[in-house]
Amino acid sequence: MNNPYSAPAKVILFGEHAAVYGKPAIAVPVSSLRASAFIQPEGRGKGFHIEAVDLAQILPVTVDSDLMDNALIYTAQQVLKTLNATPPDATIKLTSQIPMASGLGSGAGVSTALARAVAGAVGKHLDDDTLNRLIFDIEKLYHGTPSGIDNTVIVYERPVYFIKGMPLQPLTIGTPFTLVIGDTGEAGITRVAVGDVRKLYDANPAQISPILDEIGDISMRAKIIIETGNPDDLAILMTRNHELLRRLTVSADSLEKLIDVAMRAGALGAKLSGGGRGGNMIALVHPQQAPIVQEALLRAGAKNAFVTTVR
Ligand code: MEV
Repeated sequence: MNNPYSAPAKVILFGEHAAVYGKPAIAVPVSSLRASAFIQPEGRGKGFHIEAVDLAQILPVTVDSDLMDNALIYTAQQVLKTLNATPPDATIKLTSQIPMASGLGSGAGVSTALARAVAGAVGKHLDDDTLNRLIFDIEKLYHGTPSGIDNTVIVYERPVYFIKGMPLQPLTIGTPFTLVIGDTGEAGITRVAVGDVRKLYDANPAQISPILDEIGDISMRAKIIIETGNPDDLAILMTRNHELLRRLTVSADSLEKLIDVAMRAGALGAKLSGGGRGGNMIALVHPQQAPIVQEALLRAGAKNAFVTTVR
């Protein structure tokens, strides 16, 4: 069983960037990669701290003022406020297997794990709807103009067909399928990529709107295939989605290289996943081809490559 104070990574299968403009997108959790928090009770009067183990930082949390320059402290403060609780005498130890700035949702994953642990440390529980709203507010503060897809798939930890501002639409996976996820090792800052697409859109809406519309259509078609069809048919949609993302300028040489390597090693289709400009790519593969594609990505310089089954 998972640590109750944890949250998964995510991959976006279709529709990133277009999601910001209200187009549908599809994302799934990656439950094997997690951010986790552990509550260590402290003696009376010791105060409340967050220990960001991977960053070797210990952060004191008070509620006197909102410390908005630190996302972890701010998250803890917002949870205490929401639950009407005072800071406990405790240290929350936070670790994450989700690489940062890689398109796998590390920001939302870490905030979600932390928020769950803060609630646990004051003896309360945050329901997923409240938590999702809280993490979305935090994402907005620190990551620009997110659509809300990352917090939604991560908080509810289930595949979603996502449309900004609409109620959660869970997605049923008709037939499981296999992905290889390859990390370029290059940081891709989603806030910057989203901002650049916005500039492109504002400068030339007549040219960019049809690209966003087509990405939205791809997500709609992919939903039907995922729910009822043959997952192999997703390959062509993935490859087309990637071409459109390239036209939005969010690909990168490192992503193009890994996508090309995956296709040559026998992937059915491949695309960048998340904000792009670096970060991760995903390749749809037949299960028997997965180790071959994984190996090829690692040989081509991927910082990491792992296989996951979407079910
Ligand atoms: C980031 O994981 C997905 C983007 O579409 C941004 C967003 O929807 O918030 C690039």
